[in-house]
This record gives sequence, structure tokens and C-alpha cells, in this order.
Amino acid sequence: MFTTNQSTLNYPYQNADLKISERIEDLLQRMSVYEKIGQMTQLDITLINTTGKQKDVILDPEKARDLIRNHHIGSFLNGEAVKPGTWYRFMSELTRIAVEETRLGIPVIYGIDHIHGASYLEGATIFPQSINLGATFDPKHAHNAGWVTAAESFDIGHHWIFAPVLDLGANPLWPRFWETYGEDPYLASLMGSANVEGVQKNDDIRPLKQAATGKHFLGYSDPRHGWDRTPAHLSMQQIHEFHRPSFQKAIDAGLKTIMTNSGEINGVPVVASHDILTKLLRDEMGFEGVVITDWDDIGKLVDLHYTAGNYKEAVYSAVQAGIDMSMTPEHLEFNKSLLELVDEGRITEERIDQSVLRILKLKFELGLFENPFPRDDRFHRIGHPENRQKAFEAAKDSIVLLKNDGNLLPAKQSKRIGLFGISANSKRNLSSGWTIAWQGGKEERYPVHMHTIYTALGEEFPETEIKLFTKDDVPDAKTITDSEKKRFVNKLNSFDLLIFAGGEEPYCEFTGNISDLSLPKDQLNLLKLISGSETPVVLILVQGRPRIITELIDDLDAVIHAGLPGFEGAKAIAEVISGKVNPVGKLPFSYPMHPNYLVPYNHKKSNLYSFDPEKANRIVKTNDSPSLFPFGHGLSYTTFSYSELKLSSEAIRQNGSIKATLTVTNTGSRAGTETVLWFISTHVGRITRPVKELKHFEKAHLHPGESKTVEWMITPETLSYPDENGRKIIEKQSYSLIVNGLKRDFKME
Ligand code: GLC
Repeated sequence: MFTTNQSTLNYPYQNADLKISERIEDLLQRMSVYEKIGQMTQLDITLINTTGKQKDVILDPEKARDLIRNHHIGSFLNGEAVKPGTWYRFMSELTRIAVEETRLGIPVIYGIDHIHGASYLEGATIFPQSINLGATFDPKHAHNAGWVTAAESFDIGHHWIFAPVLDLGANPLWPRFWETYGEDPYLASLMGSANVEGVQKNDDIRPLKQAATGKHFLGYSDPRHGWDRTPAHLSMQQIHEFHRPSFQKAIDAGLKTIMTNSGEINGVPVVASHDILTKLLRDEMGFEGVVITDWDDIGKLVDLHYTAGNYKEAVYSAVQAGIDMSMTPEHLEFNKSLLELVDEGRITEERIDQSVLRILKLKFELGLFENPFPRDDRFHRIGHPENRQKAFEAAKDSIVLLKNDGNLLPAKQSKRIGLFGISANSKRNLSSGWTIAWQGGKEERYPVHMHTIYTALGEEFPETEIKLFTKDDVPDAKTITDSEKKRFVNKLNSFDLLIFAGGEEPYCEFTGNISDLSLPKDQLNLLKLISGSETPVVLILVQGRPRIITELIDDLDAVIHAGLPGFEGAKAIAEVISGKVNPVGKLPFSYPMHPNYLVPYNHKKSNLYSFDPEKANRIVKTNDSPSLFPFGHGLSYTTFSYSELKLSSEAIRQNGSIKATLTVTNTGSRAGTETVLWFISTHVGRITRPVKELKHFEKAHLHPGESKTVEWMITPETLSYPDENGRKIIEKQSYSLIVNGLKRDFKME
């Protein structure tokens, strides 16, 4: 048996007193080319576990030994939710092989999709998905999600978190829309960088660190036809203005790794694009960390994009474009091809060293050489009540009250509530994908303590009979006769309130591709049926993207967008319905009016060419966009008024600024939190400008009758936007400051 006891070796790279750069230099010159290429390779857990199935986190030591000792593989990924002890044993054995049974003892780094809490760890705290965190307009929640994820997953040996998704939620058809923070680049920038800091600057795991991953770089989220990994056509100016900011802010916050967009932009797959991965990401945006491909992105150059005739050519173009590590992840072709390319001199060892240096730097910075092994003495932190409370706070702040006719909500303590819909008694629908398993787990795998909307309402309304209507209890809308309909509707008249919890079942990536954003027909039909009764109807939308409900919006008394609120979400929903929680959430996206009319709030002026607002069936009168509910919309159980919007001057000079002030008043009868959204509208621009752009937001917590003056400094930087080369343009133009319908004009001199 080949073993080395690392403690007997005293190479400089093992000396923690030396600078990381010195340790890397020493280690690199000791490595063979094949050992270096092994560090550039990430393989899936199915190649090292006993069954070849994602769900089995049980190491097959022989498989692991072969890959680590003979092929020097430096990274692995994936798995499913198992107990902490199971991960601990798996990572302990995997790490022991790497650090004790190899010539140089380089520790492995394990990557995993804990995107909203340690989602592949049984008992972990699970936050709302990012689309809900965007709805809070509070970076604190994104920071907490990152922090808790790191605190709960670090000890079991997960040092590389494949989050946050920094893609812009530009296309609500896209099946990964719910993984984004919504359609605004400024909001996504603040939320994404806060999450990165929560993961990477977590004192609970100090002096060690965990790496976050900005993904999927870039322009992945706006495929022309809405389906996952299909072509996007984006000008470089659009990329700089809309898709770059969230990555840039995360990089400026110290982001350690980036994952590539598997798709193509303008005919060039990102993984093969030197312009994107080197000129833009490294030279212009200053990223110095590790770039890993997404799942088999190199293989996709051969069998999806057909830009490489064979796998070896695909490796060549990806490495030349600038990737550092290949998420290969189910074979060894990457290693073998790259070794051949180096032997042939088509790829230099200097190029290999460039990537291996970054990978080793990552491992040294995370402290893996000093502390490679997991630990099992702090599992009590997993799912800790304080962590779950943070997730609960985020869930409560993420619920958006879209409509509330006649102040139906908060619901009085009724006698009888009828509860319908696919999400009424579902745990899995509350979190969708990347939870317990890639596509979401089976219902029975969710925590026993976790509420569904049904059980949470039961707790919130203890004196009320809540009748759960299962599929069998409701007539088939397709075959129902008039007399059956009459009987059924009469039955519903005996209830005080009807709640329909619908939306979407879990999906992840391409399994969520759809060709119609409308709420599915069976749900629309049942909603129409129950709306035929005299009893008021509340629709709760548990969904990853805004399914269209325009055709029946007038029949609904109240609508709640619950999104994907996570494991604490049902309780948050129930407390909004009971009024214990005064809803705070605002839409981080424009809620579309029609399936083929998907227009974001920051659309161009020409988007409204021939648009007739009178014909638009818009519920929100202040809505100035062609949506059913506009970006930033969200009702409260109190009311707020905005007044006295003032500017300290009507002109900004080159190095100057002007102060904007505004008074917000709680004009209702209960305390509430208002999110004040400050927009800038540019009147004329060399490059067409969005009708308005979110530039600042803040919270105002107000008691009834209380007023608060909020203020914000506008600078020339605020007014800048990028040209096609990413260079900032500041134009001496006239502008408007817009806040909740109030407007003040000013100009740049
Ligand atoms: C997937 C996803 C990516 C994820 C990776 C590893 O294809 O695109 O977001 O991190 O594979 O699971």
C-alpha cells in the first residue's frame, strides 16, 4: 500500500508560516503535468460512491483511491440531502486518501449546490429561494442566507458553495428565473454581493473560509425563446448594462470563484469565448479567482453547440478561452485530452500553471492544507433555532400582497375555510429545485417539523374548521355538468373564505422549460369554478416564476405572491393571512399581463410604441408599465403617503451632487414597513435609455401617523451608463427623479 505520512515531509509548501505565493511556487514546481491537470478536473460523486447514484453519499474507497492517486483529481461535487454524520464519514475518508495516500497530499475541494441553505444536508436551515430574497429588497436576508449556509455546511467538509446565481431575471419564462434576485441589475448586485460576503466572510468558521461561486457567467438568463441553455442574442452594451453589474459587485466583494454559462451568446458558446472569459472577466472586470465550467460544458461544445468537432478540440478551445477547472464531470476525457494537448505543445505548461496556481491559491486561502478534515463536534449548529429564525424572517419579508379588495385580508377568525390547490398541503412546492435533491425531494424526505400551508393555517386559525379539498373532492372542470356545478358552488357558499394555493410543482433547469407562462389550465378552471360562489377567494401563488392569471384577476378578492419561501415559508404565509405579519414584500420583477408580452419595468421607451394604457387591464392604477402588477408593487395592511419630494438643486455639476429628500407617512391604522424605491429617468441618451432605472432603495418602519424624511445623494456616477465597450457615459442631459409617482426634474451641467 502506497502511503506517505505528510507530517514527515517538510516541504516549504507545507509551512503555514510562509506566504501563500511562496507555498504555491514551491508546490507547483514539484508537480508533474498530469498532477497539475488533475487539479483542473472536477468529477461527480457518482464516480466515487458505492452505487453510482447521486443519493448515496457512501464512499467507494477503491474508486476514490484510483481517481485521486492515479489521476490526481483535485475536486468532486454533488450528492443529496443526507445526515451530517453521513457526509462527515464520506468527506473524512475522501480527504484522508487525498492528504495521506498521495505523493504531495494536496487536499480535495468539494463543490455543492447549497443555494438557499445547506440544501443537501438533512436538518439544515432552508431559506427562501433567491427570487423571494429579491422581493424583500433587503440585502441582510441574502447575507444571512450565505452566513447560515456556511455555518451549517462547513464542518461536514463542503468548502465550495455553488451560489449565488448572479444572473439577471430578465425572462420570466426561463426555468431558472427563481434562482435569480429578479429583473433589476442594481437589486441583484446588492443581494448577490451580500450573499457572497455571508458565505466568504463568516466568522463562525474563522480562520477557515468557504468559497462562493458567481454563476453563470454571463448572459445565461435571457435566452431568446426562454428555454434553458438555448441561444441568447445580447449586444455587448446590454451585457455591460444589465448582466455585468451583479457579477462586478460580487467580484469587488472578493468573490473567489465563477461558474460559466453553458449557453451561447450571439453564436459563441461562453465556454469557448476568450472575449468573455478572459478579456471581459479578467482584463476588464478584474476577476482573479477560479473559473469552473458548468456541467459538461466542454462536452456541450461538441454535442450541443457543435463548435468543436471532437472532445479534444473542445478542451483546447475552452482552456484557451480561459477556464481553470472542468466540471467534467463523469469521465476522464478532459485529463487525457489536455495531457495530449500539452505533450503536443498546443497548450503550454505555462498556461496550465496559470490555472493550477489559481486553484492552489483557492485551497490555501480556504485553509484546506492546514485543516483539510471535516469535524463532527458542532453538528448542533445545523438547523439551529436562531438560524431557522433568520430564514423565517426572510420568508415573512418575502411574501408579496398583490391584491386585497375590500381589505379582505387579514382574514377574520372565520368559522370555515375551504383550502384548495396543488400547494395547499405540499412541502416540496415551497422550495422547488436544489432542495434535498436536484429536482426537489420526495414529499416524505422533507422535515417532519416543516409546515405546509394547510397545517400552518390550522395553527394560525385554531378555532376555524379548515377543509382541505383534495383532487378527489373537486369535480373535473372538463366534465362537470351544470347541476354538479350548481351543487358544488352551493356547497362553497357555506364557507367564510376560500383559499386556493396553486402555482408550480418543483423543477430545476431544463425540466422546467415551458411554452406558455399562463397558470396551468386545470388550476385556472378550478379557480373559475370556485370563484362562482358567493364566498371570497384568496389566491396564493407558490411558484418560481409569475404564471399568468390576468383572465381571472377580477374574480379574485385577494392575491398573494408567495414565490418559493423555503422551509419556514408556510408559517410566513399563514401569518400574513391572519395579519400577525404585515406584508413587506415587493415584486422584484414585472408580473406579466399576457403570455407573449413579457416586458420588464426597465424597458425602452419604444417598447410602449402604440401601447394603449386604456386598453390594458391593469389593476394597479399607478402602474406605468405594461404589466399586470409592476416591478416594486406590494401592498401592506396599512397605507403610506409620499410627499415633499425635494432636490437641493436642479443641476448637478461634474464633481458635485444633489440631495433628494422625501417624506413618507404611515396614513393607516397599524405599523408597517415601506420600501422606498428611488428611480432615475434619463430624458435623452446616445444609447436608448430605460424608461426608468432603480438606483437606490431603503426601508421606512413607521407607526400609524408617523412620518419619516428619507434622503439620498444623487451624483454624476448615479447617472452614468456603459457604452458598447463598457466605458461609462455621463451625459449633460435632463433627468427625472421618480419615487412612487412623484417626480422632480434636474439636469447635469
Ligand atoms: C448544473 C447547474 C449549476 C450547478 C451545477 C452543479 O448544471 O447549471 O448551476 O451548480 O450543474 O450541480
